[in-house]
This record gives sequence, C-alpha cells and structure tokens, in this order.
Amino acid sequence: MSKKPFYITTPIYYPSGDPHIGHCYTTVACDSIARYKRMQGYDVMFLTGTDEHGLKIEQKAAEKGVTPKEYVDVIVDKFQKLWKYMNISYDRYIRTTDDYHVEAVQNIFKALYDKGYIYKGEYSGKYCTPCESFWTESQLDENGCCPECHRPVKFAKEEAYFFKMAPFADRIEKLLLETDYLRPKTRATELVNNFIKPGLEDLCVSRTSFTWGVPVSFDEKHVVYVWIDALSNYITALGYENSAHSDYDKYWPADVHMVAKDIMRFHAIIWPAMLMALDLPLPKHLAVHGWITMNGEKMSKSLGNVVDPFVLGERYGQDAIRYHILREMALGADSLFSNEIMINRINSDLANGFGNLVSRTVAMVDKYFGGTLPTERKSAPLDDEFRSVVTGLLPEVDKYIDETKIKQALEEIFKVVDRANKYIDETEPWKLGKDDAQKPRLASVLYNLLETIRITSALLAPFMPTTMPEVWKQIGASEEDVKYDNLGKFDVLPANVTVHKGEILFPRIDVDKEIDELNDILRKNMEAAQAKLSAEEKGEEAAAPIELAPEITIDDFAKVEIRVAKVVACEKVKKSDKLLCLQLDDGMGGRQVVSGIAQYYTPEDLIGKKLQLIANLKPVKLRGVDSNGMICAADTPDGVKVIFVDDSIPVGSKIR
Ligand code: MSP
Repeated sequence: MSKKPFYITTPIYYPSGDPHIGHCYTTVACDSIARYKRMQGYDVMFLTGTDEHGLKIEQKAAEKGVTPKEYVDVIVDKFQKLWKYMNISYDRYIRTTDDYHVEAVQNIFKALYDKGYIYKGEYSGKYCTPCESFWTESQLDENGCCPECHRPVKFAKEEAYFFKMAPFADRIEKLLLETDYLRPKTRATELVNNFIKPGLEDLCVSRTSFTWGVPVSFDEKHVVYVWIDALSNYITALGYENSAHSDYDKYWPADVHMVAKDIMRFHAIIWPAMLMALDLPLPKHLAVHGWITMNGEKMSKSLGNVVDPFVLGERYGQDAIRYHILREMALGADSLFSNEIMINRINSDLANGFGNLVSRTVAMVDKYFGGTLPTERKSAPLDDEFRSVVTGLLPEVDKYIDETKIKQALEEIFKVVDRANKYIDETEPWKLGKDDAQKPRLASVLYNLLETIRITSALLAPFMPTTMPEVWKQIGASEEDVKYDNLGKFDVLPANVTVHKGEILFPRIDVDKEIDELNDILRKNMEAAQAKLSAEEKGEEAAAPIELAPEITIDDFAKVEIRVAKVVACEKVKKSDKLLCLQLDDGMGGRQVVSGIAQYYTPEDLIGKKLQLIANLKPVKLRGVDSNGMICAADTPDGVKVIFVDDSIPVGSKIR
C-alpha cells in the first residue's frame, strides 16, 4: 500500500543577516512534526528555503561591493549549516534565485495577468527616497516620516502592476471564520475586522525602483514584488509551472504551513487569494506562532538582541536547545527567551526528569540483576493503572501533533515521565532489592519502567533526534521495538531484556555558575552584533570594540603559569563540532586539554606543534571530557588563531 503524503513548510527566510534562535523556532517545530509524521508512516515532504530577492538585499550587497547573488550565497550557506547543526531533516530546500523558481514565478504572474486578476496601474503614496520605498499613511512613524530611516517622505507616483483582491474577499472570510485553516482560530476575527471588512485593497505586485527580483516576462522594467515571488515557493518547489520537480500532484495542497505572526496576513489573505485566482486547492492549515522575545522585544538582527544557536548548542547540546524552544512556545503566543528559564527547564525536565528516570532504571537493572532481567514476575494492582497511563499516551500525542500543538504534546509526554518517577517512589525498588523473595516483584517494576522509557523515548525522538537512539541502546531496545506500531502497548521489549549502562544523557547544569557565564557570553555576542550593525549602517567594516579587563598587578599576573607544551596527539571530541581534545607533552608528565578550536584547526594541523599552555588553571569537564588547562589563542576577524611557539624552545619552559 502506498504511503499517505504529508507536506509541511516553514517560511522561506530572508538571508539578509545571520540566522538566530528566533529563526530556529519554526524550523525546529516543522522538523519535529515532519519526523513524527514519518514515524507514523507518512510519505513526508518537508520544505524550507530562502527568500533572496528585494531591495534590502540589493542595497546590502551594494554596500559590500558584491553582487546580490554573491551576498546571499554567503548567508544561505550559514542557514544551511545551522539547519545541519540543529539536525533539521528537510527534504527539499528552495532558493528563490533558483532558475526553475524564477521561470515558474514568471509563468504564474503571466497567468494571473491573462486571467485579468493583474492589471497595470499607478502606485502612489508617501515615498522615502533614501530607502526607495513607498509607505502608507498608517505605516509612517509618529512624526509622519519614514518608519525605517525616520527621514521626511514625499508624495510620489510609480507605474506598477496590481493584483485584484476584492473578488476573493467573501471566500477568504469564510475560510478564516468557518474552517480550521487558521490556527489558532482566535486570530481570524482580528484579520477579518482589520483587513476584510474595511474592503480588501488591491495589492501592488511589481516594482520599477529596483532590479534584484524576478523580471515580469512581458514588461521587463518591472520586477515581481517580493511576496508574489516568495509565496509561490510552496508550489514551485513541487514542480508547479516548472520541470525541475514533479511532485505537485502528490503533495499539494500542503497539510501545514507554519509561520510567525508578523507574516500571518500574507499567508491568511494574500496566499489564499493567489491560489483562488489560479484555481488551485487551498492549503489545509496555517499554524501561526508568536515570537521568541528577549527583554520584551522580538528577537531580531535589526534590534541586535539575537542569541547565537551555535553558542547554546555547544554548551548544552542541540537536543536540549530544540526541547527548550519547543516546550516554551504555545501556538499563537510569544515566548520569552531567558537563560534562567532555559537552564531550569533543561535541569528539571531533561536532567532530573527524563535523564534521571533512564539512569536510575538502567542502574537498578544492572545492580540487582547484573544487567539482564529474569523472566519470573509478580505484578501488583498498582501496575495496571500505571501501564494504562503509559499506553494511553500515544493517541494524546498524535492528537496534539495533528493540531500542531507541540508544547502540549511535550507536556503530555513529560506527565508520563513524571508518573514513572513517582512509580519508582511508590514501588520502592531499593527495598525490594534487599529481599530475595521480592525479586520477581522487582523484575516487574523494572520491566514496567523500561517499557515506559521505550515508549516515551520513541515519542520524544522526533523532538530530540540525537539523544533518543542513545537511550534505546541503554535500555536494550531494538529498532523494531521503537516503531510507531509498538508505542501504544506494553510487553514489547523481550522479557529477559539486557540493559547497557551508558553516558549521562543530559548532565545537570550548575545554575548560578552557568547563568553568570552564559549571560556574559551572550552579552558580548550581542555587543559585537550591535557594533557590527551600527558599523554596517555607517557603511564601515565592523571593528570589534577593544574592551580591557580591569587593571592587575605584576603579582596578579605571576599567578598565571604559562608554559610551553607540545601537541603529541589530538582528536575531535565526540558529538561536538567545536571541541578538540589535545594530549600535550608539558615537561611534567603530560596532560589533556580540551579546546574550542575544531572549526579552525584539524588534529593534523596541530600534532607536533608547540604552543602556550595556561598550566595552573583549575581542571574542568567540557562535554564530559576532562580538560586540564587551556591553550592560548587569539580572536581575529578570520577566526581563532593558536599562538604557536618556536620549536627551539623546550617543553615546560615558563613564559613571562
Ligand atoms: N521571507 C519572509 C517569509 C516569506 S514566506 C513565503 C520572511 N522572512 S524572515 O526571515 O524575516 O522571517 C522568517 C520567519 O522567521 C518569520 O515567520 C518570522 O516571523 C520568523 N522569525 C524571525 N524572528 C523570530 C523570532 N524572534 N521569533 C520567532 N520567529 C521569528 O518573513
């Protein structure tokens, strides 16, 4: 039997600046749903991409002295690297600069023109010359000036093409108010009252004031205005009006478009109108979420308050970051980003809740049964209630995923995790373990716990895809055991299952220490981002401000032991993109140091080289690996550079 198709999309992102945690939300959310649907047996198409045309990109590229394509290529690469790093399993990536998309947009524009829905007219309004942008009265700032650069605007006219919206108003109103298209539905009335009831205005769909866009095929001084270009991506990526792909019939209409609230109107009104004009079926659902905010504002590059996902991922692991952002954001509402909330969430749910359940259970099977459960069992009345709670989880999670309510899906799973930890307290396995006669009872308790871990970890895998396979190894679950069809029932693991003690899944974080350190790192990153932004605004190359630490005395300096050491061996730290583990000959018997330079050096670059070692630094564990000291390196505009030492200087020499 062929699998049922399921099509889910993120917005296509503007590659006008580096991606940040704010961009991650939609992508991680769609990825989790895509993975869940694949687990359920659907034939999933998960689309993401980049929206690469428009005046802003043209201007930024000009400031840098590169072509718009050269400019976007660099940033698109960063987006793709971030998605790889965050384990995003997209099936297709569309760039609006791809030839097939450009051709298809031209065809779509022409078709709308031929049908009489697009006509040539005149765009008039308040125009900001430096920004080359038209604004409506309501968009102007409090002084009646340009909302972007706050300079005076003047009345101007420009020839432009328009898309007729009025013919679709009634159908769109019904779509919003009477169907389950918009999620959450509470936003439908606001849209209808603000945009449809006052009369839908025709949409200006071409520009002549810039050239970085899709040319209108029959009037080449016009380029297609960016929303027509951008929204079409959802169908051109499937092969609509082009021959690069051929799955339009299979996947359209989309099951879920997910977007944030600032672009809801385009997806709730303009996109359905375009599809209606083209006589195409409408997508089934539009799921709208809020913003990740910081200090009360949307996290955004132009506000300079962005958080770098690589910094967080490196400290806590990608899965913990994925979990945190998904768990905090309710459909439709904003969610606050704060280090405190993130760390407490990781500690309470992942380290103490789930991680502890796994490690305690596996440790007990190991301690009381040498790792393999005996088959003799004794159940108790309490078990039935517990087992029914666990086996009842699957339909609940299915339901929330179908409603694109990820936060609630995770809440349900964690209710069961908490219930399992309570079951340990109720059954007191450590007491049962002391009495041989109670061993069959103990085996039942531990088996029930292993089954609970099997089910919850399989349901968590779409959200935290890196860690869960490690859990399956620890509890002795096979690939078959964690398949969807096995998640609504118990007695799937072999009765005599063997567990394998493994690494701690989510190490507990020392809240006070970590918050200070992290706030400091994030503050510095944001200051650098803001400095870069204001330098960019002034058209300068960004120079990092040099900020000296408070003055110290020579005695303070003497406390730091800097010694020459030689790299004798080096390898990458497992599950980390940034860390290298170096074995050093320090003239004192040797030592191991972990350093965050894997993006800049391969092990081969370092082996045999001499460098400077801070030799009396308190040892720490990085990603679970002991680090005994630190090597000296410089931060440069081209990345981190290790300070190598002349080979003639013996290892162990003191540097002063
Ligand atoms: N290019 C358009 C989308 C076209 S879709 C046919 C665009 N791009 S964007 O890069 O500016 O934003 C893409 C998505 O990321 C939007 O849904 C936007 O709201 C979302 N986010 C950007 N910053 C965000 C947060 N701080 N929090 C949550 N989502 C955020 O709009």
